Amino acid sequence: MTSSPNTPAMGRYPAGGLAFPHRGLLGIAGLQNHEILFLLDEAEQWVELNRRSAKHSETLAGLTIINAFFENSTRTLLSFEIAGKRLGADVVNMQAAQSSIKKGETLIDTGVTLNAMRADAIVIRHASSGAVALIADQVACPVLNAGDGQHEHPTQALLDALTLRHALRERGRSDEFNGLIVTICGDILHSRVARSNILCLSSLGARVRVCAPPALMPEAIDAMGAEPYHDFEAAMDGADAVMMLRLQNERMQGQFIPSPREYRHLYGLTAERLNRCAPNALVMHPGPMNRGVEIESDIADLMGTSLVTRQVEMGVAIRMACLDVLTRRARGVDGWAEAGERSA
Ligand code: CP
Repeated sequence: MTSSPNTPAMGRYPAGGLAFPHRGLLGIAGLQNHEILFLLDEAEQWVELNRRSAKHSETLAGLTIINAFFENSTRTLLSFEIAGKRLGADVVNMQAAQSSIKKGETLIDTGVTLNAMRADAIVIRHASSGAVALIADQVACPVLNAGDGQHEHPTQALLDALTLRHALRERGRSDEFNGLIVTICGDILHSRVARSNILCLSSLGARVRVCAPPALMPEAIDAMGAEPYHDFEAAMDGADAVMMLRLQNERMQGQFIPSPREYRHLYGLTAERLNRCAPNALVMHPGPMNRGVEIESDIADLMGTSLVTRQVEMGVAIRMACLDVLTRRARGVDGWAEAGERSA
């Protein structure tokens, strides 16, 4: 057995594998508050490493990670690849466009095939909600959801929480998320980022407002713990942070908004709207951004206010933490092999 070389969070969480007893990371749903905090705390060491000129660790040396992306990605795919490589793993990216899925192979057979190659972790993005869970049932190793349809994008929510935590600490806010008002505005209906963020930020103690045109607001969103708004000005009043989302045209069948021009007029983030927020409010966007639609360019680039590039930076650290934590049991890290596991 080996000890984890990096255990910054020890002492504040249940010992060993009980700190994060899940087999995989399919969503924020099902995670306890202390499990979310554990992943955030674990990521801090990787934020530090990533800011050094030498960014290499041997934590996952000898392990094989497969990134299987069946949907386009820039940030998530690259950051999972960088995360695995910085941890010393062998990382393989499966190009779905060139895979045998195109020849009619089923998703389950693809999962079984990846499993037979004895991957140590599989990262999956898919356009269908629930597809990642379907593959997770077929494989022996941890599966990480890199975004499935409209369902969840858990590592995005975790990296958003880590980004916010850093920015709030820099502003001297010691209670961080407690009572923090975060407004998420955009295409809430089709957004897995919104769903994962509502669950994550609420669990951490924030008040989450969601704002969208009626056609892009899911029914019963309040049951998830979010306060729904259709009036963007009202949703911005006193907010500490605003997270803008793009229109997910690729998931829309039919017309959900009158026109992009009208949408921008009612729901685009401008300097005037930002002024309605609390002083020093923070601006976030998971990317990719549609400048001039949901966010004006000058706001997206506003130094000290926009956290957009910081979110990308934190994405690598969070994904390193998730890969490290989820492979500890298989690596025989002290106290992890013995702990029972829950599927998630
Ligand atoms: N935020 C996000 O998931 O970006 P990508 O689609 O580029 O991965």
